[in-house]
Amino acid sequence: MNVNVMNVDYSTKIPNNVNLAEDRQVLKALEGWHPGYIDWWNDMGPDGFQQSLVYLRTAYSVDPRGWAKFDYVKMPDYRWGILLAPQEENRTIPFGENYGQPAWQEVPGEHRATLRRLIVIQGDTEPASVEQQRHLGKTAPSLYDLRNLFQVNVEEGRHLWAMVYLLQKYFGRDGREEADELLRRRSGDADSPRMLGAFNEATPDWLSFFMFTYFTDRDGKMQLHSLAQSGFDPLSRTCRFMLTEEAHHMFVGETGITRVVQRTCDAMREAGIDDPNDVAKVRALGVIDLPTIQKKLNLHYSLSLDLFGSEVSTNAANAFNAGIKGRYRETQIEDDHRLQNDTYPVLKLVNGEIKRVDEPALTALNMRLRDDYTQDCAKGLLRWNKVISTSGYDYKLTLPNVAFHRAIGEFRDVHATPDGLLIDDATWAKRKGEWLPSTSDGDFIASLMTPVTEAGEFAPWISAPKVGIDNKPGDFEYVKIET
Ligand SMILES: [Fe+2]
Ligand SMILES: [Fe+2]
Repeated sequence: MNVNVMNVDYSTKIPNNVNLAEDRQVLKALEGWHPGYIDWWNDMGPDGFQQSLVYLRTAYSVDPRGWAKFDYVKMPDYRWGILLAPQEENRTIPFGENYGQPAWQEVPGEHRATLRRLIVIQGDTEPASVEQQRHLGKTAPSLYDLRNLFQVNVEEGRHLWAMVYLLQKYFGRDGREEADELLRRRSGDADSPRMLGAFNEATPDWLSFFMFTYFTDRDGKMQLHSLAQSGFDPLSRTCRFMLTEEAHHMFVGETGITRVVQRTCDAMREAGIDDPNDVAKVRALGVIDLPTIQKKLNLHYSLSLDLFGSEVSTNAANAFNAGIKGRYRETQIEDDHRLQNDTYPVLKLVNGEIKRVDEPALTALNMRLRDDYTQDCAKGLLRWNKVISTSGYDYKLTLPNVAFHRAIGEFRDVHATPDGLLIDDATWAKRKGEWLPSTSDGDFIASLMTPVTEAGEFAPWISAPKVGIDNKPGDFEYVKIET
């Protein structure tokens, strides 16, 4: 039987376009893993709403022109499946020492450990974010937002399946063990936390959720793009399809923040407030003041920068040389794709100053990806600032300096202001509340988080979206709540 890779086979328990029906061993391993996954979803997935009907998209094809179908689904019945982008004929490795050689359909022995580690790290982030967001359904500002949250959650669940498939198909027994471990670790758990820092932080409120989907899912996008270049073809194909889903997650973040900013500006205008920095006055209107939005942005951006690892990294160089992890849009870059003789400017701490230093391009690959990320992040800020200036306010949201609030890399041992001025510990301790959300900022935001469950209604701190999901009208009932 020849499976049409564009369309997904829904006849097996696990929907897929990888011919699982004839891959008995892997099907068995996945079916063995399935109950543990459902247990995890019930324990750590969205708190409540598991019996509610949610208007979700489910992938039924990997054709980028039309791959999803929308329908009401109870989340535990969501058809999580294994979906790979179609195999490109005669694909070659687009970078590194093996540049131009045929892409691998099996794992090369010498790269097994590196590949497994990268897949496990990527896999670990997927369930982590579901865990971080599990309580947010209880305070959703609308049914529209509630649906978007759940869409993100079920797709992160599917991304876990995507990585588990690779582990179980290509890494034998240790792959199966890693797959089990992915269900065992828990975000924020003292004994067995998730692997990366940002995925152990709390996502306490909906502004954090939007910041997370904007900034942290965007790190995911950058990582998936680099892995989509991989010489290990199944990983490349997996990541290429994941990216189509990931776009919605960042849309949720970008439009979410836009709507918060919009509502704040509208409320200030209506109340005749001219100074957006008059926090007390703005908060009295029941909306989130711009300075607090800036603080949240500072926090989530800096936590997300840490996900890129050290600026200078031999691991990154090795993964590139080997043909395992490429650059953002590798195939569109015009150079030799080997980088043996190139340099790249890296921000470093030199004699107590932040300086640009040329490093070998190979070891500077994390820095390069992070720079690409920063550029990608900046687009949202342009939109948000447009909303503010169109409302007539002289206020600009900005990305903090990369030295600000870092726990990993060059700047982990110093303190810097959002403008990139290095400061001592005492100054940091005294002033950090100006730059990062304080407990009282958090309490204020929490005080606004009352759920709105009437179709077409929105919490007073956020404006309605411009268009509905799947072009549905404003009063569409995206979630039929059943408790
Ligand atoms: Fe994901
Ligand atoms: Fe995501």
